[in-house]
Amino acid sequence: TTTIEVGMLGLGTVGSGVVTRLHQATQKIEQTQGFRLHLAAVAVNHLNAPRSVTLPIGTRLTDSIQTVVTDPQIQLVIEVMGTVTTAKQAIITALTHGKSVITANKDLMATAGAELIALAQQQQVDLFYEASVAGGIPILRTLTDSYATDQITAVAGIINGTANYILSAMTQGQSYEQALVAAQQAGYAEADPTNDVAGWDTAYKLIILSQFAFGQGPSLASLQPVGITTLTAASCQQAAKYGWQIKLLAQAQLAKGKLYCRVAPVAVPLGQALSQVSGVQNGVAVTSRAIGSSLYTGPGAGSTATANSVLNDVLIAAQHRLTHTAGRAFNLQKRDLPVASLAQ
Ligand code: HSE
Repeated sequence: TTTIEVGMLGLGTVGSGVVTRLHQATQKIEQTQGFRLHLAAVAVNHLNAPRSVTLPIGTRLTDSIQTVVTDPQIQLVIEVMGTVTTAKQAIITALTHGKSVITANKDLMATAGAELIALAQQQQVDLFYEASVAGGIPILRTLTDSYATDQITAVAGIINGTANYILSAMTQGQSYEQALVAAQQAGYAEADPTNDVAGWDTAYKLIILSQFAFGQGPSLASLQPVGITTLTAASCQQAAKYGWQIKLLAQAQLAKGKLYCRVAPVAVPLGQALSQVSGVQNGVAVTSRAIGSSLYTGPGAGSTATANSVLNDVLIAAQHRLTHTAGRAFNLQKRDLPVASLAQ
């Protein structure tokens, strides 16, 4: 069988999950795809840091990103190290060297996605990032593939597990501070949770989600996200008493040829499906002409769930390389809609 050599940058929560998922899925991949994925090298910051997974024999551990992204044997590079500047440079080098790239980096794809996608297309390689939005929920591919002939009119999402966990816990009476600590312990929060609670993480993901739903996303500058830092347990409980759940929502809707977007806490009536998405769960509600309303829920983070989205992207990128059909990215339909802010 043909072997596709894969390189990975980062071995944290998602990277460790990829190692685990790849091990679990090896047999299924060989049986159903007729090829093998082999993790040739993993680049990490500190070679001697403690690890939660053991690398398979034959996988090289290195502290040099450069040797992975330029390795002539490696056809696919997985970027799961985070950060913007270093990751961007690594991805550019990988794409320039003709490798397909899979990333989970929402910050990067939301802010520099257009440039990277253009480079991937020019190089005729794939650049996939399913795991960047709603981790384990295959929402990006659903929006492009399953809505290909439909027209989406609105997306609304709970796409930050940390904020949703805090809001759910405050509704149960915990203080904001207690809830944040518990959310960090649940392992969903970013190393610095500011982006989670101030709405930036949700804003990055809305930009990507909106590009997939509408072919056009808001700029970060135009979004001015409102986070959850000023909310209290008392206000969440008060809202619940009257039949509302306060949720940090990412919304984008198309009306009269204009795209309206916002990231802000919203009191969602209990009758609406999104009000039931609680704890660290994520949920994305999609409204479209043909299907009507659908809700996609599931884990928005977590090691193996997110890694599953990464591995699935790897698989598709590998298929494309073998059939010489790489470079079609996600078939994003670019549009040029005026973008406005939804009234708060
Ligand atoms: N910090 C993010 C969250 C992780 O809480 O949803 C997944 O992107």
